[in-house]
Amino acid sequence: ENKPTTRMVEAHELLKKFYHHLLVNTKEGQQAYDYLIERGFSRETIDEFEIGFSLDSWEFMTKFLTKRGFQLTEMEKAGLLVKRAKDGAFFDRFRGRVMFPIADLQGKTVAFSGRLIENIEGQPKYLNSPETAIFNKGKTIYNFHRAKKHIRKNQQVLLFEGFADVISAVKAECPNAIATMGTALTDEQAKIIRRNVESVVICYDSDHAGIEAAYKAANILTSVGCTVKVAVMPQGYDPDDYIKEQGPERFRNEVIDGSLTFMSFKMRYLRRGKNLQNEAERMKYIEDVLKEISQLTKAVEQEHYLRQLSQEFSISLDALQQQKNQISSLSG
Ligand code: GTP
Ligand code: MN
Ligand code: MN
Ligand code: MN
Ligand code: MN
Repeated sequence: ENKPTTRMVEAHELLKKFYHHLLVNTKEGQQAYDYLIERGFSRETIDEFEIGFSLDSWEFMTKFLTKRGFQLTEMEKAGLLVKRAKDGAFFDRFRGRVMFPIADLQGKTVAFSGRLIENIEGQPKYLNSPETAIFNKGKTIYNFHRAKKHIRKNQQVLLFEGFADVISAVKAECPNAIATMGTALTDEQAKIIRRNVESVVICYDSDHAGIEAAYKAANILTSVGCTVKVAVMPQGYDPDDYIKEQGPERFRNEVIDGSLTFMSFKMRYLRRGKNLQNEAERMKYIEDVLKEISQLTKAVEQEHYLRQLSQEFSISLDALQQQKNQISSLSG
């Protein structure tokens, strides 16, 4: 078998092993190794996720691949090398970064994400492989190949924003953890998830971007037939920070087990920035929530949230029912 895509995967597999070797066995990898230990990754975790280090060199990878008989033009198409416009020379895409190998759904290494050890002005914190013949970002799910059997067994998947969150979650005894590729969840990813499981807990960062992204992801997952819950953490935390500061038990028992239904999350989301002491804003909020309630397909769920509204704002259930029915007839 000698297809270009086979060779591209082969190059990724070889590099993955060599990057890992550089990280754990060499002086050059020491600073990156210390960084990972410092942020709480154990040697066991580093081995399990095959984390590595790319040398701070323009030609390490280029030489490594040449020596093993790979064509540089093909390796550029694989996303590993970059061609310099000026003279057409090839150089390494990943330099001086902690390397996270990225596998396709079958577990073949098809890409990398490289993280800076220290912030460098003007350089991205994470550098990902570009889209290639073997790497389609919108169809790739980080850690899916390892998580799959746990997802099916637990009948639940935990969806995170970042690689570090997944790695921390697995260490915190949540092996059913996956992440998208640093971009918004796609329809394709949602469908892949749905083929394996119905119940999804979204566990994104507790910052503005994370909350917005969770809302969007929840809608996409709901539209493909998933039942969605959203985990909430104190403002500013991401799951990795939370696990490190509060411990794995609290993460599992409070954040994951305490996750909100999508509707409860929407109610929180809709009240953000509103002053519910103000009458007009309160009425607007109630109307927004009724609109969402009218979309729920299960009568029991509708009733449950209507009661909640009724209690919180001391409005009769009847009045809420009436207004909700008006809204549903308007929206057809
Ligand atoms: P750590 O800082 O290592 O803990 O990473 P994080 O996962 O907490 O990062 P963050 O919340 O900032 O971003 C979430 C995800 O977005 C990351 O895991 C990456 O996949 C992606 N991401 C973050 N920064 C960049 C970047 O500079 N470029 C690209 N392409 N993706 C990024
Ligand atoms: Mn190892
Ligand atoms: Mn984030
Ligand atoms: Mn984060
Ligand atoms: Mn983080």
